[in-house]
Amino acid sequence: MAKHNLKAKSKDLFEKAKNVIPGGVNSPVRAFTPYPFFVEAAQGSKLLSVDGKTYLDYCMAYGALLLGHANKNVCYAVEEQLSKGTIYGAPTELEIKVASQISKILPCIEMLRTVNSGTEATMHALRVARGFTGRKKIVKFEGCFHGAHDSVLVSAGSGATTFGTPTSLGIPEETTRNTIVLPYNNIEALEKIVKQEGNEIAAVIIEPVMGNIGLILPKKEYLNSLRKLTREYGIVLIFDEIITGFRLSLGGAQEYYNIKPDMTTLGKVLGGGFPIAVFGGKKEIMRHISPVGKVYQAGTFNGNPVSLKAASTILQILNENGKEIYPKLEKNCQELKKALSDLASNHHLEAQVYSIASMFQIFFTPQPVHDYASAKHSDTQKFQAYFQELLRQGIFIPPSQFETCFVSVAHDEGDLKYTINAFDNALRLASTVNRNV
Ligand SMILES: Cc1ncc(COP(=O)(O)O)c(C=O)c1O
Repeated sequence: MAKHNLKAKSKDLFEKAKNVIPGGVNSPVRAFTPYPFFVEAAQGSKLLSVDGKTYLDYCMAYGALLLGHANKNVCYAVEEQLSKGTIYGAPTELEIKVASQISKILPCIEMLRTVNSGTEATMHALRVARGFTGRKKIVKFEGCFHGAHDSVLVSAGSGATTFGTPTSLGIPEETTRNTIVLPYNNIEALEKIVKQEGNEIAAVIIEPVMGNIGLILPKKEYLNSLRKLTREYGIVLIFDEIITGFRLSLGGAQEYYNIKPDMTTLGKVLGGGFPIAVFGGKKEIMRHISPVGKVYQAGTFNGNPVSLKAASTILQILNENGKEIYPKLEKNCQELKKALSDLASNHHLEAQVYSIASMFQIFFTPQPVHDYASAKHSDTQKFQAYFQELLRQGIFIPPSQFETCFVSVAHDEGDLKYTINAFDNALRLASTVNRNV
């Protein structure tokens, strides 16, 4: 990446952006104090800002990049597709190829549709589940984020927690009346509801590993019990694997935990930096979609050939090299997690550090974090000090306690070493912050 002399352009750009874009950003999580850096270019594990500063990136576009920025194979494949056209409004063989690649990796997905974002994928999955069962109610879990559409924007994680607006204005209460919100990792709460209202519930949607409230892992047997209960009551179980798909393992969380959901949503890693997401599942459910069925789902950019080409390339790379890639990612992530835990205790910080595969996060709280309520106990002032100091040292993690950090294939030994040293300084600083209650 080219070296520039340090400038202060981001600040000016942010001022200009605020005049034409709400809050100066196109997605709320990108805003942080005093102003976000604006990006000039990115390559591998690093981002270069317009100010000429290089950042080692553990945000990785909120988990969209498993191979790192601007992967050469993906870029070549996309360039080749660009010369053949960018959108056709008619089917291509590429659509069948990608659907088949996905079904092979995730056998629970017998049929799928491709859309452009995770938000669309979960929105349509829920509609199909409702159409299939003829039931209205859905269950989601506190702190899980399934995109910014009406029926799931209730007690949502990510920016909706960071900014203290768990329910957005502009959503009529009639829309969310059929959304039941339960605590994560609490099978008794689900059991109680399905006993009372099970035959009115169309779907249970869940992030099998929570990545939008920090990182929260499922308790042993929780997902199995969830599967058993939903099957018993004929409720469609939707695994929202927008983050965990192709990340926890090649076959995502469903492979990692050996659970077969009825429907799955995928996005982020799948596109290798291009906008694509899918929702899919059992044929008996997916056959309810128009034009063969009565559930309407459509989109001008569905099955976009450029995104599909990127997805097809990523899937091929992961399929051929997964046996080396996933253990290496896990090993590197473990190294960061161990360093964070050891350093936190060296600095006498009460903290919980979690990791799985290539995801990790620290919570500044003495108690284990297993759901939304326990995550909210975390000291966000300490987190801010930790974030700001890492940023100063040229390390970019998601700016909120209620997000997750991601390791990519592009992070090398030198990157890890630099990061661990930076963790030491950032945690030292965090340990000096006293919470204002
Ligand atoms: C689990 C999960 N589902 C759905 C979404 C929405 O995806 P998108 O931002 O592509 O609309 C996200 C986004 O972060 C997510 O983490």
